[in-house]
Amino acid sequence: MVSPRAAVQALPAYRPGRNPADLAREIGVDRAVKLASNEVAFPPLPAVLDALAAAAVESNRYPDNGAAVLTQALADRYGVQPAQVVAGCGAVTLCQQLAQAYNDPGTSLAFAWRSFEMYPLLAQVAGARAVPVPLIPGRPGGPADTHDLEALAAATDETTRMVFVCNPNNPTGTAVRRSALERFLDVVPPSTLVVLDEAYREFVTDPDVPDGLEIMRGRPNVAVLRTFSKAWGLAGLRVGYLVAEDPAVADAVRRTHVPFSVSMLAQAAAVAALASEAEVRSRCAAVVAERDRLTAALRQRGLDVADSQANFVWLPVADQAAPLAAALEARAVITRPFAGDGIRVTVGTPEEDDLFLAALDDVRSTAPVA
Ligand SMILES: Cc1ncc(COP(=O)(O)O)c(C=O)c1O
Repeated sequence: MVSPRAAVQALPAYRPGRNPADLAREIGVDRAVKLASNEVAFPPLPAVLDALAAAAVESNRYPDNGAAVLTQALADRYGVQPAQVVAGCGAVTLCQQLAQAYNDPGTSLAFAWRSFEMYPLLAQVAGARAVPVPLIPGRPGGPADTHDLEALAAATDETTRMVFVCNPNNPTGTAVRRSALERFLDVVPPSTLVVLDEAYREFVTDPDVPDGLEIMRGRPNVAVLRTFSKAWGLAGLRVGYLVAEDPAVADAVRRTHVPFSVSMLAQAAAVAALASEAEVRSRCAAVVAERDRLTAALRQRGLDVADSQANFVWLPVADQAAPLAAALEARAVITRPFAGDGIRVTVGTPEEDDLFLAALDDVRSTAPVA
C-alpha cells in the first residue's frame, strides 16, 4: 500500500468553503450571501474582461513562464528592478515557494497566531518547526488581536529561516505601525527572511501603517507579498507577486516555481488591472467606506470590533464563533469562523452587509452572543 509522508498525513483534511448557491438550495431560500473569503463584490473591470478575451484566443500556447510583461509592469509601478519581482499562482503559492526555498527540516518558521491559516501548514510540509507567537490585545482590555512584535523577535533565533508578518493581519484586520515594525526589523537576525504579507495593503487607510515596499529598502532580508485576489478583484484567476529587496531572494523563489503556473489569462488580467489603477482605487475607497459603516453598526450593537485596515471585520466572540457562524448560515449568510476565537466577516455590498446585520440581529434576539 502506498502511504504519504507522515507530515502530509498529519495535515488537516481540506474543507471547502460553503458555496452560496448550495446553501440557498439546502435551506430553501432564493439567495445566500457569502462574506467568507475576502473577495471584493465588484465584477471584473471592463479593461480586464477585454484583456481576458484577447488572451483567450492564444490558449493553445503555454503562458510566458517568466511573466515578463507583468513583472516589468510591477517593477515600473513600484520603482524596483524586474529582478526583484516574482509573479506566482496567487500569494499563497508564493508562500509555499518561500517555505520550499528557505526551510529545511530542523529549521523554524515563526509567525503571529492567529494569522493566515497557511503559515503553520507550510512549516509542517517543509518538516520545519512552526513557532506561533500569540497575538496580544491591541487596546487595553480588548481581545488578543494584534501582533506582538517584541515576542516575535524574541522567538526568532538562528534556526529561524523565515518569519511572516501579516499586515494587516488576517483574520483580525489589525495592523502594526511603522515604528514597531522598524524596531522589529532592526533586531531580527540578518539570516532570517522577514516576509511582510500585505495581501490587504490596498485597503489600509492609517498613514502610520507602513508600506512594506518602502520599509524593505536597504534591508536585504525583507520581502513583500501582495496579491491581485483582493483589491484588484482577480481572485478567480490566481495571481500574486513577491517583491524582494535582494534579487537573490526573488531568484530563490523563482527556482521553486511550478512551471507555467501563472496562466496566460491571469497575466493578461493583472497587467490590465494595473493599468486601471484609478478605478481599482475608487473601488477600494468604497470598500473602506462600507467597512467603516459596518464597524460602526456592529459597535452600536455592543460588539467589540477593532478598527480594521483590511476588507473584513473581526468579531472576537471566542467560543461562540462556531455556533454563531452556523446560526448565520441557517439565515443564508456565510462567514468565516475560527473556532474558539471569532468570526471574520468580509465587507460586502451595503445590501449584503445589511442582510448580515439583519441575520445577526435575528440570531442575537434568540440567543445573545458575546
Ligand atoms: C494574508 C493572506 N496572504 C495570502 C493570501 C493568499 O492570496 P492569494 O493566493 O489569493 O493571492 C491570503 C488569502 O486569503 C491572505 O489572507
